[in-house]
This record gives sequence, C-alpha cells and structure tokens, in this order.
Amino acid sequence: MYVCLCQGITDRQIRQSIDEGADTLRALRQQLGVMSQCGKCGCMTKELLLQALDERQSATYYQVA
Ligand code: FES
Repeated sequence: MYVCLCQGITDRQIRQSIDEGADTLRALRQQLGVMSQCGKCGCMTKELLLQALDERQSATYYQVA
C-alpha cells in the first residue's frame, strides 16, 4: 500500500528501512524521502514505525523470557 504518494513509498519499503536500522522518523525521511514534501504521510509513517518498534520490543522480550 502506498503511504507516501509524493515519493511513491509503500508500507513495505518503510518496514524494510526500519528493519535495516532506521528507527526514527528523521532516519526514515533521510533514507526514503517520506514527509519531505506535503507531509500528509507523517501520521501513517509514525504509526508504522511505532508498530514495528513495538513488535521488535515484544520479540526481544519473549526471547529473553
Ligand atoms: Fe509523503 Fe506527500 S505524501 S510527502
């Protein structure tokens, strides 16, 4: 699904960037160009980032527990 129409960035690309270490909105903007024009993709990008970080934290918790 397209998240950023200005740059043609999909949720899959955003998730891949997060998996590769982009764990802030600034890093995602620098790597992909999301939120660099109209900014309408900011809320969805933030939601995807928080969801991915939460999943990562849960996975780490269950590996340790
Ligand atoms: Fe992402 Fe416009 S939709 S900058």
